[in-house]
Order: sequence, then C-alpha cells, then structure tokens
Amino acid sequence: PLVAVLFGGRSSEHSVSCVTAAGVLGAIDRESFRVVPIGITRNGTWRIVENWQDFRFDPENMPEVSDNGTRVLPPISAEGDSLREITADGAVRELGVVDVFFPVLHGPFGEDGTLQGLFELSSTPYVGPGVFASAASMDKHFMKGVLAQTGIPSCPWELVTERQWHEDPSEVLGRVEALGFPVFVKPARAGSSMGVSKVTTAAGLDVAVKEALAHDTKLVVEPMVVGREIECGVLGELGGEVRASVPGEITLVGDRDFYDFEAKYLDLESVQLSCPADLPPEVVEKVQDLAVRTFEAFDCTGLARVDTFVTPAGEVVVNELNTLPGFTPSSMYPVMWQKTGVEYPELVRTLIEIALR
Ligand code: DAL
Ligand code: MG
Repeated sequence: PLVAVLFGGRSSEHSVSCVTAAGVLGAIDRESFRVVPIGITRNGTWRIVENWQDFRFDPENMPEVSDNGTRVLPPISAEGDSLREITADGAVRELGVVDVFFPVLHGPFGEDGTLQGLFELSSTPYVGPGVFASAASMDKHFMKGVLAQTGIPSCPWELVTERQWHEDPSEVLGRVEALGFPVFVKPARAGSSMGVSKVTTAAGLDVAVKEALAHDTKLVVEPMVVGREIECGVLGELGGEVRASVPGEITLVGDRDFYDFEAKYLDLESVQLSCPADLPPEVVEKVQDLAVRTFEAFDCTGLARVDTFVTPAGEVVVNELNTLPGFTPSSMYPVMWQKTGVEYPELVRTLIEIALR
C-alpha cells in the first residue's frame, strides 16, 4: 500500500510536527509500504521532502518545510485520483493512488478536522480520529463542553473572546476572579502550550490575555488544578477494541512554572517523564477507564493521548485530549505504548492497519 505522510503545516506547531514526522517516517516498514513524505509549508502548499532524516529539535535551527517551487496536488474527488507532483518547470509526475494518509500534523489545519475533511471528500483512509473528534478536541472550549456533557470529570473554565475582552474587561476580570487565582490563560485552539500563561494576580491578566490573543481570538481560562500530571495513551478502533496504555507522569524538576513549550521541547533538563507512573493500582485503573471513556465520548478512532490531573485525594480529572499527540520516539505517547509492550514500529504499523480496515 501507498502511505502518504503529511507534516509541517500552517500551525504554530509546524516544527514540532516535522520532528514527529521524522520518527514516524523512520519507522514505517518499507517492505510492506511505499511511502511518500509530504511536507506542508507554513503557507499550506504541499511538496515532497527528501531530507526529513535531518529533522530534530535544535533551538538554533528548528526544522521547517520551505517552498521549493514544486507542488503536490492532493486527491479531491472520490474517483481514486492519483497524487500528482508538479515540478517547478510545470512537468507532472504521477505518484500513484494514496491508500492511506498519515497526518503527523499538530494544531489547526491538521489536527482540527479540516484536513480530515479533505480525506473524507476523496474517500481516502487516514490515520487518527475523524472530522468531529478532531474539531471538538482542537477547540478547548468545545472539548470541555463535551467532557462536561458526557459526565467525565474535568476542570471548570471560562470562555473569553477577543470581543468580550475589548468591550468589557472588568466583566471578564470578574469571571476570572470567581475561578480563583492562579489561573491558566490559553488560546482555545493551539497546542504545545503556545501562548499559554499562568497568572497569579489580577494585575497579570492583561499581559496573559494579549499573549494568548496573538494565537487565537478565543481563549479559555482555567483555575490551576493542584495535582500530578498524568497522561494515558489510547489506541483502538471506533466501535471495536480500544486499549489504554500504562499511564506516564510529567514532573517539573527545575524552577519552571508549568509544562510550557520550552520544557516540552527545548529545556529537556527541566522535565522528567516517568513511565509507568508510580501510582496505586486503583488510580491507574481510574486513569485508564477515563482515558477510554474520553476516547469513546469523542468518537475517536486510531489514537489519542488523554491528559489528566490526579489530585492528592486520588481524584482524576481530564484536562484534555490530543488527537495527534507528539510522536517522536521519546514522546510520551509512544513511550507509554512501549512500556505497555507495543514497540514504536509496531505502533506505527498498527495505526496504519486500523486506518486501512
Ligand atoms: N500538541 C502536542 C504535539 C502534543 O499534544 O503532544
Ligand atoms: Mg494539546
């Protein structure tokens, strides 16, 4: 089968996606699959990228899909169109009919259902959750709405729009104060903690809101949950078998305030990923049960990483789910599966096989 791996893209997580893709591209079994590596530029154009092996986290030189003048045209009809490359001088090269897309994209225009819509239009199978699950999970406001509606414990939040903030900041401040400081101010539709700030007093709100509004016109504000950051991987098929991994834990070891972008990707010394997390068996069970329920509540298929907080009293609340979680071989999602007994190449193969079923 022909697998088209997509990475880069139009979101602020462009470079993160490139690094994730290097992991996936390196692990696909070339005896079973033909692979086309397609980079999406920040402007949204598609091209073949040959040097994906070079993609790694380097603060000085983050990976980037640049426009080289060539174009890959995606299939758009359900008639089995071939994927085509148009070279800079206008020559057309047929790449074959894609059997399965593997979007290794994070954030808007990749993880949010828009691209999944294109796959649906062309009747091409794809790895990961569908249009609704992707869209609902990308938008933290609606994600929390679905969690609340399905009875899955999550944390309270306030929606703040750009318009509300400009028209009546004191009304917004009142709602934020009612949540109780410290709070987290987050863009509703971003990832990797981009644009997220922790705010400890009313005086800090203005800067945090401006920072988040640089990423989105909609924000969510949440009170800080005191608890351990526990994540759980889910793997399975909508309407079929769905499995939860052993949970992993994120611990900040330095003086970093929270698990922000730097801690996630750049200042790796400041964070410790422990897997399996050291938790009593009944808490592990609770986390896994909630992770599977969350996956199913959103009609997910393929994969998702469910992020939770475990309070000192042993309560588990779901913070969010990520339908295309970070996927480098050292990222939490693959590590949790490895500790559960599914090695990285097998995980990649399983995801493709679920998509092809
Ligand atoms: N949004 C990042 C990639 C994650 O959830 O891992
Ligand atoms: Mg996220």
